[in-house]
Amino acid sequence: MTVTEPASATAPVPRLAARTRNIGGSPVRDILAVTARPEVINFAGGLPAPELFDAGGIAAAYRAVLDETPARALQYSTTEGEPALRTALAARTAQRGLPTDADDLLVTTGSQQALSLLATALIEPGDTVLVESPCYLAALQAFGLAGARVLAVPGDEQGLDPVALEELVVRERPKALYLVPTFQNPTGRTLPLERRTAVAEVAARRGLWIIEDDPYGELRYEGERVPWIAALPGAEDRTVLLGSFSKIMAPGLRLGWLRAPADLRRACAVAKQAADLHTPTVNQLAAARYLADHDLDAHVRRVAAVYGARRDAMLAGLPAALPGGSTWTRPEGGMFLWARLPEPYDTTALLPQVVRHHVAYVPGAPFYAADPAPSTLRLCFVTQTPEEIEEGLRRLGDGLKD
Ligand SMILES: Cc1ncc(COP(=O)(O)O)c(C=O)c1O
Repeated sequence: MTVTEPASATAPVPRLAARTRNIGGSPVRDILAVTARPEVINFAGGLPAPELFDAGGIAAAYRAVLDETPARALQYSTTEGEPALRTALAARTAQRGLPTDADDLLVTTGSQQALSLLATALIEPGDTVLVESPCYLAALQAFGLAGARVLAVPGDEQGLDPVALEELVVRERPKALYLVPTFQNPTGRTLPLERRTAVAEVAARRGLWIIEDDPYGELRYEGERVPWIAALPGAEDRTVLLGSFSKIMAPGLRLGWLRAPADLRRACAVAKQAADLHTPTVNQLAAARYLADHDLDAHVRRVAAVYGARRDAMLAGLPAALPGGSTWTRPEGGMFLWARLPEPYDTTALLPQVVRHHVAYVPGAPFYAADPAPSTLRLCFVTQTPEEIEEGLRRLGDGLKD
């Protein structure tokens, strides 16, 4: 074939896919870039406290697998994940009340990847996904990139309302409900057992996938553990449970996992082959070695004791820092609390002036799938010491007063 159209010296390249134009970058990441300066007390990022990483134990685990099984540790691996790690994860899951075999699990590159894989495996463009209000930001991104229509389920300070959920399911015929039932990001709230039971019943009655994301559940500072929705009657065959080492070991390992019914797990494995073939072998083997040689639960207890004191420091300082009429959550665990300032405070508009006082939060608006509440904000209470938290809240109070 002869090319007849005259070539221009600099023809523009074709446009980016619409999905990347319509879904913005994470505002949390944008703020983190501004607040990386050391003088800023950063309540914005969801950063685990680095001084509590068991760097020695993790280094020893990497050394052991590299010394003893280098050919394996540095080789390609299966998409599903290293059997040693999946066996250990299955045992931990079963100990917590959900019978699980190694084969029920797919190891993922952080639980964030599990969200992308599920979006690929479940969602056709235009399909509806229900989320909490507010919702974990990067889940909104993952579903949005897959072309989902994302709708928020109304709720209250205890979390989503199962009656409103059922109405929405009947009306909108969604494919899935995504939720973080324990120590939610961004609010810190925990869905009570009665509501979990009701959510499981709605899913069973109406036909719905449940994506239960639980990266924070082990970080409990008070109160009793609430069972996973995945373990409740009706939900067993339609719930995907996501787990992660990011908050209990270290986020840089990029290790997460999903537990899903066989068909959906296989579809996620196919999506994962296209995404990254498999999660780095050496990280998986080192984590399995760490679990064999160390008591991760004891480590988590040490971390939780420190984080609990940091939560208390933040709760103690908030009344003086936030304007009269503000309200906030009192999480029993996790990393975040959620505050609502009185109207007409607008936390997005106020952020630049607050950052000038060398402190940062995340404005609440981007966490909403629709109808953002402009006076809300998220604070992370685990990264700084109680003294730094006290100082950060003093600065926040000054910044909001300006
Ligand atoms: C609710 C929730 N899900 C998933 C993730 C992703 O975690 P990771 O990919 O590090 O396991 C986070 C991280 O902050 C989160 O808060």
